Amino acid sequence: MNDFTFYNPTQLVFGKTSTDQLADKIKQFTNGKKILITYGGGSIKRTGLYDRVMKLLAEFEVFELAGIEPNPRVETVRKGVQIVKENHIDFIVAIGGGSVIDGTKLISAASKLDNDPWDIVTKKAEVKDAVPFGVILTLAATGSEMNAGSVITNWETNEKLGWGSPFVFPKFSLLNPELTYTLPYNQTVNGIVDSMSHLIEQYFNEASNTEIGDAMISGVMKAIMKQAPIVKANPENYEVRETLMLGATVALNGFMRLGYNGDWATHNLEHAVSAVHDIPHGEGLAILFPEWMRYVSQYKPERFVKFAQDVFDVDHTLPEAEQIQYGIDQLQSFWTGIGAPSKLSHYDIKEEELATFADKTFFNGDTFGNFYPLNREAVMAIYKAAL
Ligand code: NZQ
Ligand code: ZN
Repeated sequence: MNDFTFYNPTQLVFGKTSTDQLADKIKQFTNGKKILITYGGGSIKRTGLYDRVMKLLAEFEVFELAGIEPNPRVETVRKGVQIVKENHIDFIVAIGGGSVIDGTKLISAASKLDNDPWDIVTKKAEVKDAVPFGVILTLAATGSEMNAGSVITNWETNEKLGWGSPFVFPKFSLLNPELTYTLPYNQTVNGIVDSMSHLIEQYFNEASNTEIGDAMISGVMKAIMKQAPIVKANPENYEVRETLMLGATVALNGFMRLGYNGDWATHNLEHAVSAVHDIPHGEGLAILFPEWMRYVSQYKPERFVKFAQDVFDVDHTLPEAEQIQYGIDQLQSFWTGIGAPSKLSHYDIKEEELATFADKTFFNGDTFGNFYPLNREAVMAIYKAAL
């Protein structure tokens, strides 16, 4: 492993009673009364969560930013910053999935600067402070509820970029698995694919001797995979939702990368596609990850053998090439088996567009990926295989 320092200040409040602690948790971080709630396109109103939250916030003066999009847009973040600045908001509560949380992170940081929020994403402006915020999570997927990262889309430039700052760890995250009962099945699937993809990104890392990480990653991955057949038949199974929610959180809160960063090339490949086509992040990953694995396993096969052994218990006596293929095929058929897509053509994406996606992946040098650096030729080969 590489030397490391682990830091994660987010208070994680987990379980059926977590939502009810909202007011008490806010008061741990502010004496102020002005609260901004941020949410998405309306699911919280349909599920009754909005009314419940308003009751819990009865003692505060509540402002609202509705309509944070899936793949959150910088225009909406600008509206949030305006509300915070004009009303001197003391604390923000993000209610939703990764998109609402990521948008809120940028609102909280940009509200402390004079710059446009996009300057933070493009690293032209440095974050030195942020309005404190907490989270009520409604979708198990991104891990944004317990990390300091955020991914924002700019439709003027067709860019979808990640940024992060230690100032935007949520102060607390309230995780009640019951709130995920109302998810459409495809969003549950996207969450499973995304959380598994975070684990896979970190499994393929740049360090040696990662036995603890390998064991944690493959253990969490197997636990998540076990839930999938049950959740389709019974979306209100509490224990299943509990496992999926905690699994998604630990997959990207830093615990799975003690001593390395992970590869992260596939996330970059996916963000470039959703910057142009606005497809759900989990669906893009389900298509691209198996092709990244098929490509990179030609050059660094050993790790892919171990992946097949750790995660899919492949027969160790098979020739290595067969073990590798088994691991990748099992992963892809698990994802397609639960309803995820496997080809870019699913979205009517044409071969002529692949070069545009590739251009967008190289915003920071000529290669990317910490386990195996991809150059342009490699990127094009992976996109073509995914077509
Ligand atoms: O907008 P509403 O009406 O609330 O509906 C949402 C949205 O349409 C719906 N939904 C959420 N909770 C629900 C619900 N519907 C019914 N019942 C509930 N309980 O689900 C839809 C998708 O929500 P979204 O927040 O977009 O999904 P997700 O959590 O998968 O977030 C995806 C975004 O996070 C980024 C992705 O790139 C994408 O932009 N990521 C953020 C990361 C991070 N900050 O660490 C890491 C990830 O790798 C990822 O890149
Ligand atoms: Zn992801």
